[in-house]
Amino acid sequence: MPQTLALPGTTDKRLAALVTLLSENATIVISGARIAREIGVSRSMVWQWVQQLRKLGVRVKGQRSTGYFLEHVPDIVTPNVIRKRLKGNLFGKHIYHFFKMDSTNRVAMDLGYAGAAEGTVVLAEEQTAGRGRSGRAWHSERGEGLYVTLLLRPKLAPAQAPLLTMLAGLSAHAAIKAQCGLTPELKWPNDLLLNGKKIGGILTEMHAEPSQVRFVVVGIGINVNQEKFPAEIAAVAGSLRNESRRTHSRLELLVRLLGQFESDYNRFLREGAPFVVQRFVAVSSFADGRRVRVDSGHESYLGTTAGLSPEGLLLVAKDSGTLVTVIAGDVTEVR
Ligand code: BTN
Repeated sequence: MPQTLALPGTTDKRLAALVTLLSENATIVISGARIAREIGVSRSMVWQWVQQLRKLGVRVKGQRSTGYFLEHVPDIVTPNVIRKRLKGNLFGKHIYHFFKMDSTNRVAMDLGYAGAAEGTVVLAEEQTAGRGRSGRAWHSERGEGLYVTLLLRPKLAPAQAPLLTMLAGLSAHAAIKAQCGLTPELKWPNDLLLNGKKIGGILTEMHAEPSQVRFVVVGIGINVNQEKFPAEIAAVAGSLRNESRRTHSRLELLVRLLGQFESDYNRFLREGAPFVVQRFVAVSSFADGRRVRVDSGHESYLGTTAGLSPEGLLLVAKDSGTLVTVIAGDVTEVR
């Protein structure tokens, strides 16, 4: 099985090296000849890549005759930088980066079927068909959010896979807190909210046999620096920037998130469901005592959240008095 599979559309290592070289020397003009020498391509290739980077929204200034420079360091999550920052980490080994891709979950599923290793990371600067929960789309504007999917091969029964969604929510929560100084609300099973607006979500997909997971892909979307959203989601979507009035580094947040998820995942593999369930209940004020409406697809009811089952499912005390376990569906707070 190849270590890192060749995939059409992945960012060429040398293109990533070009971005790094320009970033490390931001605002200084570097000649095309020097760039060509340092990254090992021809000068005309450098020119073509500069054009490509411009199309992708990277503000490279200068021209062929004088050399090139960046007006400011772009917040691009290039794999070479992440690899360096995550030496020895499970998620620092096989990283696929795309400037533009339909969905990182779609790519990670294909990689899973192709035999890619546990710990494979798929990143995109922009998604054209980002997938959300319940068949919804995930708005994935270029360079503004984090769009990342992790491929895992845990020895779990399929029914335990949703715990990974909750685990990723906990890791994202901790990473945002540590990196940005913001404390989002964690809403079962996969929403991150700030001031009532959704700033992040997790979509877990899997390939499994009846009793054993073959692989799971955990897709994490975090709205980082968006200032505006399309009209249809503007009332409910938020970003770390909008809710804190500061921009945040996507790269730093990603490095923090991958580091956090690695340690949380290892602990989950050692300790099992209780680790996730106990931590979720401790972190999420939503899990207990909130008035909610549950839409499960075939019925809709009002109730109050009453903790989580040992398997991580939400318990809701219906107004009629019965305690129900929510297996799937939308849970919305009712005020
Ligand atoms: C939700 O609806 O709350 C889940 C959103 C998950 C979005 C992320 S972005 C990275 C990954 N790739 C996708 O296509 N979806 C997930």
